[in-house]
Amino acid sequence: MKFESGNTPVREITRPFAALLACVLSVAGASAQTRGDTRPAEQVFKNVQAMKGVQVDEYMTTMGFFSASLGISCGDCHTDESGGNWAKYADDNAMKRRTRTMIAMVNTMNKMFFAGKRQVTCYTCHRGAMSPEITPDLTQFYADLRYREPDRMVKQFPGAPDAGEILDRYLKAIGGEQKAAELTSIAATGTYKAYAIPKQFKMEFYAKAPAQRTVIVRNLAEADLIDTFDGKEAWISQSPLLAPFTITERSGGEVDGARLTAALTFPAQIKKLLTQWRVAGPAAIDDRDLTMVQGTLNGKFPVNLYFDDNSGLLVRTVTYADSPVGLIPMQVDYSDYRDVNGLKIPCNMIVTWLDGKSVIQLDDVKANVPIDPSKFARPAKK
Ligand code: HEC
Ligand code: HEC
Repeated sequence: MKFESGNTPVREITRPFAALLACVLSVAGASAQTRGDTRPAEQVFKNVQAMKGVQVDEYMTTMGFFSASLGISCGDCHTDESGGNWAKYADDNAMKRRTRTMIAMVNTMNKMFFAGKRQVTCYTCHRGAMSPEITPDLTQFYADLRYREPDRMVKQFPGAPDAGEILDRYLKAIGGEQKAAELTSIAATGTYKAYAIPKQFKMEFYAKAPAQRTVIVRNLAEADLIDTFDGKEAWISQSPLLAPFTITERSGGEVDGARLTAALTFPAQIKKLLTQWRVAGPAAIDDRDLTMVQGTLNGKFPVNLYFDDNSGLLVRTVTYADSPVGLIPMQVDYSDYRDVNGLKIPCNMIVTWLDGKSVIQLDDVKANVPIDPSKFARPAKK
């Protein structure tokens, strides 16, 4: 398979592969209405030994989890030639064999010592490195405590206001609940940047209340990348150079994440989006004081929302999806709030997931314009 997209050599695109693929998140025990690619991995891939029975979308999620846990990219386990040639991923090598023994070890530990509960994952030991640390590091021990993103629900912070108060403040900051409720659609053009690819791509963005959203990136690796949540289902359609399937179905927790991101485009409904709201406590990003509010979409994992204490605006959300090997976080950072018809809309969105990052910049934003339903329709399979 050739790869001649602009000046981007295959090697450079290996990591975005990971980026785009790690996006294929899912949840064990997914909500019934979400579908995903449920075929067992061994039916689709050539050389599945350690993870037989794992469904295809979850199988790809675990690959992202491995990469992030060890701080490496796909090619480090699969050799560089595999970039752009999916058949090569089946080839075995020392790293893949070692990984299989690690999978067996983790399964055994959890089964034998933790009553089958997933307490130990690759990340427990590796922490983003190939060789886990052996010796406690004194400089780290005495360093200031680093902020850890909570991956479970925490208690309402003593003395903190109600979550409702923070949400009201946010609605006021963007222009008021009434103005927010009047927003029914957004059509925008702008740019898209993918992790480790220097080029910026032209992008179109469409959203329709209550929760449809599509991002169309023009000509990324010789094809348009289309990332859609149609109100019910979520998928990514992209170049065969970037994924083993032209349409990658999302399932379970990843659909929940896509739904939340789409719905937050229409903030008037924010209070109804989650349940079990609480203020988890103070937080900070780059010296800005924030308040972290938690709620949950599915009752299982938290959604963490960060509001700027100064402006009242929403600056970050973190959602979690499950995978067979561990929880998969996804973060969206919102900034560059601009006034559109009297409502403040975040025009810069940075989406970060296990080994990828994309920057969506809206330049020309139109509110309440009619949007053709075809923008949210599933592309024909090629
Ligand atoms: C830590 C090593 C490691 C990393 C990093 C890794 N993989 Fe894998 N990958 C494996 C192992 C091991 C298998 C086989 C697992 C099994 O036996 O079920 C595999 C299998 C696969 C397969 C199935 C190939 C076939 O046809 O049998 C694909 C596709 C794949 N990986 C893609 C990726 C992608 C894309 C990434 C980057 C997001 C990635 N992998 C990162 C170790 C890794
Ligand atoms: C209990 C701790 C522990 C867990 C959990 C663990 N590993 Fe490891 N892993 C190690 C140690 C220790 C080594 C050896 C490092 C060295 O030789 O420097 C290692 C080595 C590896 C290597 C070989 C690296 C190299 O330099 O050749 C790979 C690949 C790997 N682990 C992948 C994984 C994956 C994937 C998982 C999750 C399925 C995992 N490990 C879970 C402790 C762990």
